[in-house]
Amino acid sequence: MRQRPRRNRKSPFVRALVRETSVGLNDLVYPLFICEGKDIKQEIGALKENYRFSIDRALEEIQSCLALGLKAFILFPVVDHKHKDKTGTYSYSEDCFYLKAIQRFKAKFPQAVFISDVALDPYSVDGHDGLVEKGEILNDESLEVLAKMALAQARAGIDVIGPSDMMDGRVGYIREALDAQGFTQVSIMSYTAKYASVFYGPFRDALDSAPKAGDKKTYQMDPTNALEALREAELDQSEGADFLMVKPALHYLDVIAKLKTASHLPIVAYHVSGEYAMLYNAFSEDLDSGIDETLHCIKRAGADLVITYFAKRYAKYLKSL
Ligand code: PBG
Repeated sequence: MRQRPRRNRKSPFVRALVRETSVGLNDLVYPLFICEGKDIKQEIGALKENYRFSIDRALEEIQSCLALGLKAFILFPVVDHKHKDKTGTYSYSEDCFYLKAIQRFKAKFPQAVFISDVALDPYSVDGHDGLVEKGEILNDESLEVLAKMALAQARAGIDVIGPSDMMDGRVGYIREALDAQGFTQVSIMSYTAKYASVFYGPFRDALDSAPKAGDKKTYQMDPTNALEALREAELDQSEGADFLMVKPALHYLDVIAKLKTASHLPIVAYHVSGEYAMLYNAFSEDLDSGIDETLHCIKRAGADLVITYFAKRYAKYLKSL
């Protein structure tokens, strides 16, 4: 035999030389759930080892993550029902704790990267990502509220806006609104191919943000489609997105691979809450190896960045090696 592929696998050092994919701390984004109040660090039942943090405790958490070498955080607000209404006004109101959180985090950790969430669902009594009228999710009317939310976050000092709402045209609309107010350096990480997935269940529990009626299928994508993701990618790119996201990750590796070849923008994979729970519950001993394999496979498919609830645990694991 001339060809013996096993020669390139014969020892750990040889294998290290021929590795095609690596996962490092610069590739990870850690989601944090922020709530109102003081001294709160409450574990999320459906997302073990993840917590709802009040601002003061979140500052400690961010500090410990930075010490481990993590650099980027995506922030989600847990909004009390008393602040919710039909049009999500709390999202851009002056006393919104989420905006205060952004201010405090940036003031204390100017070098860290903070990514926001732009969508109506945490703030809306309807639990949908856009405005709802007679059971319909309005598109163009929602854009204005989303842009208000994005501007308020930009004023608070956010580094990257993360529109997760899937309304048509929102990237361009938000880009224009930001630029008109001088926020030309605020980036947009677009949820480009966000599928109507059942794997968001634990997240909706964490935020109490599940739709009150209907589902999200008129705006989030059909899991059976891949070409449509390319169409969304073309649009987001032409509208000025700086990052393109695929969400969820594991069942959509083919979509990640397609976007990677179709675009020169960084591709972000969101390893979502249901995927986290699935992996977390599948292992009793070898969880870290399971996480290691999973993250490498997501990157191998073409992702440049991975948003994962395992980021902190994985950073600790890397340090222990
Ligand atoms: C809502 C939003 C969702 C997630 C991130 N932003 C849920 C949804 O669309 O219903 C899900 C994240 C996860 O499951 O980890 N705009």
